[in-house]
Amino acid sequence: MAATTSEVRKQRAQIGVRTLRGDRWWLAPLGTFAGLTAWLLYALIRTATQSNYWVDGYNYLSPFSSPCVSASCAEGARHFGTWLPEFPPLIPLGILVLPFLLGFRLTCYYYRKAYYRSFWLSPPACAVAEPHSKYTGETRFPLIAQNLHRYFFYAALVVSLINTYDAVYAFFGKNGFQMGLGNLILLGNVIMLWAYTLSCHSCRHITAGRLNHFSRHPLRYRMWTWISKLNAKHMQLAWITLGTLALTDAYIGLVAADVLPDLRFFN
Ligand code: FES
Repeated sequence: MAATTSEVRKQRAQIGVRTLRGDRWWLAPLGTFAGLTAWLLYALIRTATQSNYWVDGYNYLSPFSSPCVSASCAEGARHFGTWLPEFPPLIPLGILVLPFLLGFRLTCYYYRKAYYRSFWLSPPACAVAEPHSKYTGETRFPLIAQNLHRYFFYAALVVSLINTYDAVYAFFGKNGFQMGLGNLILLGNVIMLWAYTLSCHSCRHITAGRLNHFSRHPLRYRMWTWISKLNAKHMQLAWITLGTLALTDAYIGLVAADVLPDLRFFN
């Protein structure tokens, strides 16, 4: 049976201060808190405005509004048809996949560490006592839902495929092949999204997690080795993809609003 925090504390040496750490341990959780909050606010504002998410002619569609399948979407942005009626104001145009994307990121092993430490202070850092008196871990509701991560992984694969389709689609306009800076940004974002998705711990486990004999499964072993290398960079990829997502959306937003001209290389 899991011990409560107060039981564990009683077994430990009784120290009068919260921590004996003398370094600036609070910098990492504070930076994470600021970074995640800023990103969430940006995403919330951008998706709630339902505007400047699509550049006609260049076929740039913001990943925040993809797939765009409602009657509220610009006609050219409906790459997969019109499945839903017009959305009322403030509803994100990409709401169809939003619960799966949020589920994937919120249950991600890295993000769990990030928000447990920076938002819940549970604990805020190694060797720093947490303010909560009870600890039940991830074995009970609601945190037992973190186990759904492996299923969200499959949903994230589908979303990455949709984003890939959007990025490739943008290369083909009315006059054939075209390329501008926006295409390279969309492409870079998709590559990073794949790297993050495939570096997932669940993906690593799926490739060869329960194999007893690697020698009998050379292909799976090779994949596992490759995924393991990516997996070692999972935290970095988690942050890089937040950056590329925001950058892609911001660039498309500025071009769509005629604030910035797209740098054209071809056509
Ligand atoms: Fe982070 Fe799966 S562990 S996405």
